[in-house]
Amino acid sequence: MNKNSLWPKTKFFDLFQTEHPIVQGGMVWVSGGKLAAAVANAGALGLVGAGSMKPDLLRQHIRKAQSLTQKPFGVNVPLLYKDAQLQLQTALDEGIRIFFTSAGSPKTHTAWLKAQGATVVHVAGTPELALKCQDAGVDGVVLEGFEAGGHNSRDELTTLVLLQQINNKINIPVIIAGGIGSGAAIAAALAMGADGVQIGTRFAATQESSAHAAFKQAMIDAGSAATFLRLKKLVPVRLLHNSFSETVRQAEDNCADAETLSQILGKGRAKLGMLDGDLEQGELEIGQIVSIVRSIPTCQQLLDTLTDEYRAAKSRLCNS
Ligand SMILES: Cc1cc2nc3c(=O)[nH]c(=O)nc-3n(C[C@H](O)[C@H](O)[C@H](O)COP(=O)(O)O)c2cc1C
Repeated sequence: MNKNSLWPKTKFFDLFQTEHPIVQGGMVWVSGGKLAAAVANAGALGLVGAGSMKPDLLRQHIRKAQSLTQKPFGVNVPLLYKDAQLQLQTALDEGIRIFFTSAGSPKTHTAWLKAQGATVVHVAGTPELALKCQDAGVDGVVLEGFEAGGHNSRDELTTLVLLQQINNKINIPVIIAGGIGSGAAIAAALAMGADGVQIGTRFAATQESSAHAAFKQAMIDAGSAATFLRLKKLVPVRLLHNSFSETVRQAEDNCADAETLSQILGKGRAKLGMLDGDLEQGELEIGQIVSIVRSIPTCQQLLDTLTDEYRAAKSRLCNS
């Protein structure tokens, strides 16, 4: 239960005993143990992003986070990767009981994880999938609009539209994601009935994220329309514009099929871009809200700013 009067008493606080109703989304190559622990220490829910990790590496990141914080944190497991089951088992073995699953069916692992005492939240990009998540017995759902960085839904539903579509249709806690970059946006989300928010891009642009320094600088330099949804015939992903994404755009304009796109993508592009810092040939996953990134704060500084902005937004409404 939230004892902090700053926030409304939403269902988020029934699930997670954090100071803020804010989740740092799992992010391949970007959210290791250091980021998850820093977010937890700053009062929000941090997630280790297992997507880019073999089970042994995931174990190391979980242990690192455990050595850096006493607060609870979770693990995000995108279910599309072949190691997903092993990643879940590894995290369970290491004592993790908070799971954010994504990119797969909520039916596959939820009952099993819950039988181990875990809290399970699944990411959905449509109201239909959110309802299936509820039917599958998850504890909460992340409703993710296509403004978001990383892989997202083919249906291109925006965060605000999704939230209005789902209104009053589900009983489990709703956490919205995609384009949340300020405390005012958090106030809007909560006013519209969300129980909490999940933020990726703004946490990718922090000191503790493992994004390459060149990628962080590219986030600061990004213009207002610097990202595009690409690879819809494979797995749709929002990317910062660069030579690689331009090659994909040209192929897509020429009606390239999934196999051709898969050849253009090749292997290891996401690591090349986000971790190794190849700004031209790498895949740079980031959300539309990157356009407001102007500096690379610590997680504590970012959360302080978000809460100050949230307070200001609340008082604007109260004074009107
Ligand atoms: C670099 C990056 C990598 C991501 N990787 C994952 C991932 O591995 N699993 C996942 O469920 N979501 C992933 N996401 C989505 C985030 O968890 C989060 O839902 C999203 O970033 C929220 O939207 P925002 O970027 O507008 O804040 C990723 C996002 C980014 C920016």
